[in-house]
Amino acid sequence: MKISIIAARSENNVIGFEGKIPWKIPSDLQYFKNVTEGHYIIMGRKTFDSIDKRPLPNRTSIVISRNPIYEVPEGVILTSSIEKALRITEEAGEKEAFIIGGQQIYALSIPIADFMYITEIECHVNGDAFFPEFDGKLWKEIKFEKHLADERNEYNYSFRVLKRR
Ligand SMILES: NC(=O)c1ccc[n+]([C@@H]2O[C@H](COP(=O)([O-])OP(=O)(O)OC[C@H]3O[C@@H](n4cnc5c(N)ncnc54)[C@H](OP(=O)(O)O)[C@@H]3O)[C@@H](O)[C@H]2O)c1
Repeated sequence: MKISIIAARSENNVIGFEGKIPWKIPSDLQYFKNVTEGHYIIMGRKTFDSIDKRPLPNRTSIVISRNPIYEVPEGVILTSSIEKALRITEEAGEKEAFIIGGQQIYALSIPIADFMYITEIECHVNGDAFFPEFDGKLWKEIKFEKHLADERNEYNYSFRVLKRR
């Protein structure tokens, strides 16, 4: 099974501020939907809180928490580690697992990921959650697709896919 990270970050590496994503790029949300639909998505408890504990449709959500009695809605899987989340995904017969954040869960996953789908947002914003630093030399860019800001998308943005060398 391939392990893929999917994230959007600003030029100063911000991914979140006060539990929200600090830009409006609906085309990136659509891209996220297209890439992850039909698959298992793995996220940290704070990211699940940030989407108001509402599972994203047409995907199976796995939430990672150290709290064994954290309540999740029916259909959502609660587990206590990234390794367990990946095992559950593999045992379900999935060919690719998507790790969707946030900062803490990305930091645990970068060392074991095969692919990173990163949307680069051309802005500098305030944040309190960041995409972890990683060694670019270990990754090869296999896709780069730039889009300009328009009336719906407030900044220029690029869809990049990196594959571990
Ligand atoms: N731009 C993007 O692409 C993107 C994507 C996703 C999220 N975000 C943003 O990222 C922010 C959230 O990121 P975050 O780093 O604060 O939180 P997070 O990674 O979503 O979740 C952190 C939580 O995961 C659990 N956890 C972490 N390490 C663990 C381990 N080793 N074993 C078991 N459980 C573990 C803990 O839950 P417990 O405290 O319950 O034990 C921890 O509090 C939000 O602002 C969100 O909007 C941005």
